[in-house]
Amino acid sequence: MRKLRVAILISGRGSNMQALIGAAQAAGYPAEIVLVISNRPDAAGLALAEKAGVPTRIVDHKAYPSREEFDAALEEALVAARPDVVAFAGFMRILTTPFIERLRGKAVNIHPSLLPLYKGLKPQQQALDAGATESGCTVHWVTPGVDEGPIIAQARVPVLPGDTADTLAARILTEEHKLYPRAIAMIARGEASFPD
Ligand code: GRF
Repeated sequence: MRKLRVAILISGRGSNMQALIGAAQAAGYPAEIVLVISNRPDAAGLALAEKAGVPTRIVDHKAYPSREEFDAALEEALVAARPDVVAFAGFMRILTTPFIERLRGKAVNIHPSLLPLYKGLKPQQQALDAGATESGCTVHWVTPGVDEGPIIAQARVPVLPGDTADTLAARILTEEHKLYPRAIAMIARGEASFPD
């Protein structure tokens, strides 16, 4: 069976990217990682991808005078890799709505909360501030509203007494690294698709 072609967008550490690359190295995994793109030249994840033998590209947002021009460069880099799915993994740029519309049904994101709770920045701190007793992570389709697209899969973790944003983030991240490869496999096997 043809493997799902996945391009990954990162901005930093790249631990979710690494989890996807690791999963894709297993023989029976139904997806392959064809490209990693970072909008930051200094993203630590770039070296990890290179070490794993995955092609990388830098599309530095600072090199483009407008969001439209950045998006056009990003789209050009993506199209060349012919991805079936574009996986956002700690990708910290807001894209223009027309570009996101063109990625409809193709782009997925992972967010460290149980969406629709705690969208946006610092979701772990938001969970603590709300007095939540559990949180988790969500893989969802990307739509123009930030962290708003249809949900593909979620994993839960407890919020424990004494948790800080960092300890909670670490507990959630362990689950992210399992959930993201599982969600991509679901898409590859036709078990998840963008709702009509
Ligand atoms: C993860 O918590 C992800 O859910 C969020 O940003 C973080 C990225 O971490 N969107 P990493 O770069 O994958 O290590």
